[in-house]
Amino acid sequence: DDEKDLIKRAPIVTVMGHVDHGKTTLLDTIRHSRVVQGEAGGITQHIGAYQVERNGEKITFIDTPGHAAFTEMRARGAKVTDITVLVVAADDGVMPQTVEAIHHAQAANVPIIVAVNKMDKPSANPDHVMTELSNYNLLPEQWGGKTPYVEVSALKGKGIDTLLDVIQLVSEIEDYKANPNRLATGTVVEARLDKGRGVVATMIVANGTLKVGDNIVCGNTYGKIRTMNDDTKKRLTEAIPSQPVEITGLFDMPEAGDIFVSIVDERQARQIAEERQARQREGELQKQKKASLNTMFA
Ligand code: GTP
Ligand code: NA
Ligand code: MG
Repeated sequence: DDEKDLIKRAPIVTVMGHVDHGKTTLLDTIRHSRVVQGEAGGITQHIGAYQVERNGEKITFIDTPGHAAFTEMRARGAKVTDITVLVVAADDGVMPQTVEAIHHAQAANVPIIVAVNKMDKPSANPDHVMTELSNYNLLPEQWGGKTPYVEVSALKGKGIDTLLDVIQLVSEIEDYKANPNRLATGTVVEARLDKGRGVVATMIVANGTLKVGDNIVCGNTYGKIRTMNDDTKKRLTEAIPSQPVEITGLFDMPEAGDIFVSIVDERQARQIAEERQARQREGELQKQKKASLNTMFA
């Protein structure tokens, strides 16, 4: 992209951490929503993507499940992200999925902001969290290191403004940019089959502008964007870089983590998808052949 075409885009912030450390509650407080209340067993089971506006600037948030069973989703969340907010409950400290989240963020070379949560609890011990995390290359700024720590209570709404300040400071420094004047590319964060609407995919635009009517190739499938809405269900005709959107119009289910690209020519979109499907079938056939040979000579 030409430098002159680039405009500022919202930071994409993934919230990660161990199960029940308060990721969704934190986002609920930031968004004035109540997602946690609707979750079965209080467990987040899918990736949520939201956008908020603060001081005239947008921030995109991705919520990930902390449950051990959702390793793959956390990996996907880490892939699309600019900044990781690592939520650690101050009464519980560093746990297995805390460590896993750190590894994802460090592997992706993404800045980490630690939100030390549940500070309202009498058993909260933020110093202990800082000491534990220092063993993972996350020495706090307060101790001469590079990692910002913010003490919060997601439940009571304490420290949230400071956390958002730090997020916006980091994005100011990192200076995220994209070119809205081109065909869109981006990533699928999740997809589901809706009885009435068909395939519904949540996607984040990485670059370009996505428009209703666009032909897209998305992993092994393709389609034409029929409808598009934001996380508040508002209908959209266009989505700019960093914007999360829910779209319909794909012929088949894409996989979370799939890359999508807009393509001018409808026939070409179908052709690319069909070639990919053929290659996938070929790959599966080869795998089956190998497996049966292995049993034959076992
Ligand atoms: P998973 O998505 O299942 O990994 O959990 P999560 O990290 O999203 O945690 P969630 O927001 O579901 O919160 C888990 C529990 O901790 C809920 O009962 C929340 O009310 C509680 N909780 C979250 N934040 C705070 C906090 O700041 N203080 C206190 N006391 N409780 C909190
Ligand atoms: Na939970
Ligand atoms: Mg959650």
